[in-house]
Amino acid sequence: MMQLDARQRAMLEEMGVRVFRPELPLGRMDDAPPSPPPGGEAAVPAARVAVARPATVAHAAPISVPRAVPGEIAGMDWDALQQAVASCQACGLCKSRKNTVFGVGDTQARWLVVGEAPGENEDIQGEPFVGQAGQLLDNMLKAVGLNRQGSGAQGVYIANVLKCRPPANRNPQPEEVLQCEPYLRRQVALLQPQVILALGRFAAQSLLQSSVPEVATLPLGKLRGQVHYYEGVPVVVSYHPAYLLRTPQDKAKAWADLCLALDLMRGGAPA
Ligand code: URA
Repeated sequence: MMQLDARQRAMLEEMGVRVFRPELPLGRMDDAPPSPPPGGEAAVPAARVAVARPATVAHAAPISVPRAVPGEIAGMDWDALQQAVASCQACGLCKSRKNTVFGVGDTQARWLVVGEAPGENEDIQGEPFVGQAGQLLDNMLKAVGLNRQGSGAQGVYIANVLKCRPPANRNPQPEEVLQCEPYLRRQVALLQPQVILALGRFAAQSLLQSSVPEVATLPLGKLRGQVHYYEGVPVVVSYHPAYLLRTPQDKAKAWADLCLALDLMRGGAPA
């Protein structure tokens, strides 16, 4: 059983976990419905940060990198990558987006959080997870000592599978995930995180399609509670914060996932 001290209990309060019961045995988690599309989130003021700001793209402007070319993307530095995303026209989402949403946080961070796709607020502000789900994510991260403005031990980088908002927050389509995938792959290569927290079904599917071939058919609950790998980096799968807003009783499982990732960072979790 996990022993919680006063500080950890305070952390759980940050996440809105009021009554903590001992976590279920890892690998025997309940199944959960797929994470919802990233929508329906009330606008909250965004935390503004200096790192990796997105650029607003006027659709009439000249496009220098119209398609996602994996070979070229694989050699880009952060600035080039961000510019490539800002001008990307690899799929139809470029027509409806207001802003691309590249990512935010410390580019030296040891933690990478991967979500699904920008929602309405993220599309407007050009920053991932700035709605209600983002507020919960920030609280979850705070519970393990991380924040999006932090650096060093407090640093975290937050990105999405898709860099553009799907209209009406519909699910990402396979072609969109395929076209956007090289950008996330390069972000991982540049960041070289020590752990990746994959939030929701699409993040898990996108990151684990090579290592878990049947990933598309598995419920999220079956992917949790174990350590996966993406490009050699340990991946912990957890619930999407938007799902947790609707299903607060699963926050205790999300806390267990965070603890697993934390253990990995401390070198304590089994591979
Ligand atoms: N949901 C996501 O998956 N990503 C965001 O940036 C916002 C909501």
